[in-house]
Amino acid sequence: MAKYTVVKMPGDGIGKIVLPEAIRVLDAVGFDAEYVHADIGWERWVNEGNPLPDATLDLLRKHKLGLFGAITSKPKTQAQAELRPELRDKGHVYYSPIVGLRQVFELDVCIRPCRSFPGNPLNFIRQKAGGGFEEPKVDAVIFRQNTEGLYAGIEWTNPPEQVLGALATHPKFKAFESVPSEEIAISTRVFTRNACRRIVTAAFEYAKKHGYPSVTICEKPNVLRETSGMMEEVAKEVHADYPDIQRWSTNIDAQMMWLTKNPEDYSVIVAGNMFGDIVSDAFAGLVGGLGFACSANIGDEVAVFEPTHGSAPKYEKLDPPIVNPIAMILSAVMMLDHVGETDKADAIRNAIAAVVEEGKVRTYDMMRLPGGPDALSKGAASTTRVTEAIIAHLS
Ligand code: IPM
Ligand code: MG
Repeated sequence: MAKYTVVKMPGDGIGKIVLPEAIRVLDAVGFDAEYVHADIGWERWVNEGNPLPDATLDLLRKHKLGLFGAITSKPKTQAQAELRPELRDKGHVYYSPIVGLRQVFELDVCIRPCRSFPGNPLNFIRQKAGGGFEEPKVDAVIFRQNTEGLYAGIEWTNPPEQVLGALATHPKFKAFESVPSEEIAISTRVFTRNACRRIVTAAFEYAKKHGYPSVTICEKPNVLRETSGMMEEVAKEVHADYPDIQRWSTNIDAQMMWLTKNPEDYSVIVAGNMFGDIVSDAFAGLVGGLGFACSANIGDEVAVFEPTHGSAPKYEKLDPPIVNPIAMILSAVMMLDHVGETDKADAIRNAIAAVVEEGKVRTYDMMRLPGGPDALSKGAASTTRVTEAIIAHLS
C-alpha cells in the first residue's frame, strides 16, 4: 500500500491537462502515493445541478489531501441558462466549487508563494534612474484568509425586510433608506477574530520558519475600520510573540502601486479574502503570471493544492497541449512540503529552476507568443515536453 492517498480533482478545461503532468513529476521524484479520482466542476453542474458532489467531499474527508486542477465559473444567470433543461427552476444555485471546498473543510489558510525563477523571460524588470534595466528578485508569499470576508457568500439583491431593518440601526444607512429594496444589492464582509488570528499567526510562523524579515498586513483600515481594523488589531497582538520579525501595514491600493516600484521589499503578506485574491494575482504577474502561480488551501484536517489559473477551455482541445504545467507542478510541490517530504519538494523546485534558467524548453506564455495551434511551430514547447524536461533534471 502506498504511504499517501491523494484525491485528484482535475475539474474543467486545462485542469484535465495539467493535473496528470503534476502526477507524472510526483511519480518521477518517488513520492509514494496513490491517486483517487473525484469529480468537480462544470459538467457536474450542467448535468446534476451541483458542481461539488458529495462523493468528492467524502473522499477528501477520508484521505485529507487533494490536488485540484481548475474549474470554470460563470455568473449566476449564465450558469442557470446552461443547466440541463429539466433541472432549471428547481432552486439550484451555482456556487464556485473551489470556494465551496474552502468553506466546507475550513481551509482557511491560503498560501500563495510568488518567487521569481532566474532566467524567466516573464520576470518583472524595472527601468533604472540612470538608464538601463534591472530585475529585482521577487520573493513574496501571500497569506490569504480563505473562508470569510466578501467570500462568505452572505449577500442579497432585494434584501428581506429584516435585513433592511437591521441595517437601518446603523446611522449611515439613512443615505439608502429611500431606495426601493429591489434596487439594492448587498454583499457583506464578515471577519472574525479567530480567523484573523489564524491567518496572521500562520503568516508569522511561516516568516519565522523560512527566515523572512517582515510580515505586511495588507488591508484598508482607514476606510474598512471594523473588518480591516480587526485584522490590524489582531496582527499587533500576534506580533508580540515574534519580536524578531518586523510588522508592516499597507493599504491594498497603495500596495498595488508599490509592488511594481519595489517588489523586493515585501516578503510575507497577509490579507483578507478579497484583497488576498487581488494581491496574490498582482504579485504572480511579476514572476511569470498564471503559468507560475501555485497555491495551498490548508485547514486543520484537509488540505487542497491548486494552481490559481482558470480552466482556459479554449486550450483544452489542442493536441498536443500547449499550456504551462509549472503552476500545477509547483502546487503539487506545496503538497510535498505540507506532508514533510521536503527533500522531494526541493528536488522538483530545483529541477524547475534549472529548466527555466536553461531556457531551452519554454511554453508559449514564456515566449510571449499568442496561445494557439501554431505556438509549437513558432518554437514553443508542448505541455508534456516541459514536464519531461523537469523530470530529466530531477537528480
Ligand atoms: C482564486 C480564484 C478564485 C477565487 C475563483 C476561481 C473563485 O480567483 O483562487 O484566486 O476568487 O478565489
Ligand atoms: Mg484569484
